[in-house]
Amino acid sequence: MERPPFIFWNHFLPLRRMRLRYLGVGALLVVSCFFFVASCPPVSRPAWVDEVDEVAVALRHPTFSVIKDYERNLPQHSLPPSKGHRPRYLFFPHASWGSGWNNVFQEQLMNTHLAYLSQRAYVFPDYIPRDHPPFPDTLDNGTRHMLHVPMNAFVSGPTGGGPFSADGPDSLVRRSVSEKWWNVVCPPHEVVVVNVGQTMRELGLDDAIDDGGRILTRWASKLLRMEASCVSIEGSSVFNYILFAYRILSAWPSYGPSPTLKYFAWSSLVTGALSRNFHLLSTTPRPPKYLLPSAADVAPYKLTSFKPLHASEPPIPGLLAIHVRRGDYEGHCQGLSFGLAEYNAWNNLGTPKISQRPEFVDFSRPMWPQLPDYLEVPEGDSPQDARFKHCLPTAEEIVARVGKVREEAMMSGTAPNLRRIYVATNGQREWMENLTALLKADGWIVSTSFDMELTLEERAVGQAVDMAIMTAAEAFIGVGFSSMSSNVVQIRLAGGRDPRTIRFW
Ligand SMILES: *[C@@H]1O[C@H](CO)[C@@H](O)[C@H](O)[C@H]1NC(C)=O
Ligand SMILES: *[C@@H]1O[C@H](CO)[C@@H](O)[C@H](O)[C@H]1NC(C)=O
Repeated sequence: MERPPFIFWNHFLPLRRMRLRYLGVGALLVVSCFFFVASCPPVSRPAWVDEVDEVAVALRHPTFSVIKDYERNLPQHSLPPSKGHRPRYLFFPHASWGSGWNNVFQEQLMNTHLAYLSQRAYVFPDYIPRDHPPFPDTLDNGTRHMLHVPMNAFVSGPTGGGPFSADGPDSLVRRSVSEKWWNVVCPPHEVVVVNVGQTMRELGLDDAIDDGGRILTRWASKLLRMEASCVSIEGSSVFNYILFAYRILSAWPSYGPSPTLKYFAWSSLVTGALSRNFHLLSTTPRPPKYLLPSAADVAPYKLTSFKPLHASEPPIPGLLAIHVRRGDYEGHCQGLSFGLAEYNAWNNLGTPKISQRPEFVDFSRPMWPQLPDYLEVPEGDSPQDARFKHCLPTAEEIVARVGKVREEAMMSGTAPNLRRIYVATNGQREWMENLTALLKADGWIVSTSFDMELTLEERAVGQAVDMAIMTAAEAFIGVGFSSMSSNVVQIRLAGGRDPRTIRFW
């Protein structure tokens, strides 16, 4: 197969060419289902069987059976494994499983974009919460039985197998597939393994110093040229967690406007949780249309009746969502301050003059959104003290800051009428009650993560529910050092929210 030339800045070009070619082939050979969703016959054959996990049932873990059905029935999972033009896949069995979901997820989003640039379908795995299990998972005999959360419990955009476009059909062979489908179509003897360390050396990259843009470009160009259908990236991560500080920013001009981010969507599960709890988020009782179940499905409540929520939907008016991370953060903030840590990934977009940093000069059309806040060290503060205050503000500092943000949002007209606060938090209840009282005294209507009524399955992805609220809110204040905040930042920007509505403590 002849490959279009790889042009980094113009990565939409290869897609357009491929589409045209697919159109021709499809019309001639009447195999258009292979490439376009609209013309597919209904799925008749299950791609794999999800067996009931008796131990998980005994532990009263959620089973996610509806979501597993949904994933099994994604149209790309009924493409015949080898007939004519074979889809190309990219699998990352090694992800940073030792860290929290948001660290894993920010890498998965970049990996989806890398797969897209190399004209391959991203392979999405289940998430296994090893570090912070949402439910007890230790059996009587002392072994752990870890939860497996399907990707589509969290998200259903391009990373979870959703379309890479909003209007009109996209190419079905390019959509992400589940790891289970990869196991069906890519038997071990057909898998070509690419070792990360060795390839970094081959490509002249040093993952301890090179920036995100360079790593992305060189890897995409290599993976695009590879002929093999089934490529597995092993050994370590292409985008490892230490890259997700300042160095990742140079990838933004390619990644920021990419379909991976632009068509990002929360799952139906998460969307339904927002819909049911809407009275905690808004002063108007009725949810907007995009949070209503489809008319045919109003009763009984059905998970799949909610359309995955896109970040480009209008914000919830009057809502300021704030991320107040406590708990484990009290010790963590000391470590971050002492170690002179940078902000996490996209939270650095407000740093003055980033586009003029020498490491980014190979980008001919720099394009970074300018957030109003950054890791500022006020005069008279030590770099350590300034970090600690940005990381762990006191209740009084929080109240002062939200007041200031409300005023500035009114002055700039970006969110003129902020009245409600939603506090996304893992903090201690009593501390939170004190904060809530202070905010109420300052005129706010307040709700917190503790007020949300969630089902067992929704609780398993409670972080994503909080994040969906923070992306849907009219304005947001985050924790600069947090990957959860940083993921909220990129999703807000992808949905076209004004950068001035994205603030930090
Ligand atoms: C503990 O119990 C589970 C479930 O019955 C079983 O699968 C596992 O092998 C047991 N582990 C040990 C160390 O006995
Ligand atoms: C909450 O406020 C009360 C009254 O001011 C105080 O005694 C208590 O220590 C506070 N609790 C926390 C966890 O900060």
